[in-house]
Amino acid sequence: MMSAEPGASMATMRIGILTGGGDCPGLNAVIRAVTRRALDRGDEVVGIMHGWRGLIDGTTKPLGARDISGILPRGGTILRTSRTNPFKVDGGLEATLASLAGLDALVAIGGEDTLGVAARLYAEHDAPVVGVPKTIDNDLSATDYTFGFDTALSIATEAIDRLHSTAESHDRVMVCEVMGRHAGWIALLSGMAGGADVVLIPEQPVTVERCCELIDRRHRRGKDFSIVVVSEGWELRFEGSDAHLVAAPEADAFGHARLGGIGAVLAGEIEQRTGFETRVTQLGHVQRGGSPTAHDRVLATRFGLRAADLVFEGSFGMMASLRGDQIVAVPIADAVAGLKTVPPALYAQAEALFG
Ligand code: F6P
Repeated sequence: MMSAEPGASMATMRIGILTGGGDCPGLNAVIRAVTRRALDRGDEVVGIMHGWRGLIDGTTKPLGARDISGILPRGGTILRTSRTNPFKVDGGLEATLASLAGLDALVAIGGEDTLGVAARLYAEHDAPVVGVPKTIDNDLSATDYTFGFDTALSIATEAIDRLHSTAESHDRVMVCEVMGRHAGWIALLSGMAGGADVVLIPEQPVTVERCCELIDRRHRRGKDFSIVVVSEGWELRFEGSDAHLVAAPEADAFGHARLGGIGAVLAGEIEQRTGFETRVTQLGHVQRGGSPTAHDRVLATRFGLRAADLVFEGSFGMMASLRGDQIVAVPIADAVAGLKTVPPALYAQAEALFG
């Protein structure tokens, strides 16, 4: 491991940093932590713009102390982002490897797609990459939490609180659609935190009939309003027929369908089947925008500091990860090997209070 002692003789490094995939609160906190640690050692930091796309088209900018000043509480990413997959772009891999040859290390901050690319570049091309796990969906394996999730959860919980009061005033059913492409972490935990009456997540094959039964039961018990939280990735399912996702037909460079709209379809079904007036709120990208919570700022900063150390040690192919209250290093490949979904036992706990 290289010495970080001021004045000690050591080769300086040229360290690239990129943010890929959907943005999330806390990205700038990671960029700041990595850059400050590296600049303190006398290393050079290069911001790669728009995720992997910046390595393909060579769009970069030097990151100095001024560039990272004041960015800790800011949402989004000063490096911009995109859903570019270099393995799917003509000449993308060659261009990426050529750009990587000009760097001593690359810190890739991303979710399953961005880190999936990082894992392949390391495994197949020995690329000097280090990973940092982000996503509001919290569905990456090999880490207890990703940063960005806590902020999204807080936003969804506040929305559910607000929907409660208007639902009660009007004796309505309110359906709140939240993000979560393959995993229902945001839906389940915001539903628990906000006291939702039904929560529908991708992992649980609950039918529309069962959802309406729970609402009916609640109204028979004397309640005049209900809150339903549905994850965008929950499949519309009726008894005795096949389930299907509500999504736009086009897929992104990683093959993901663009989700959104299940809430409106479900609200129509609930109103028609129960006779209760029903409205829908789709939270969408509001969950990804704005300033990170204190929790996410701290987690993102700790991840960034550990990622910088992994670079200095030459521990490539590794990712900073949260295990309990410790930040540890795990292979990036482990994080993208499978999705971390909501365990049935946790859903069962929430379900005990439905209806
Ligand atoms: O993966 C994070 C996420 O926010 C998902 O929850 C959601 O399905 C997707 O990104 C939306 O992506 P986009 O910003 O491309 O619409």
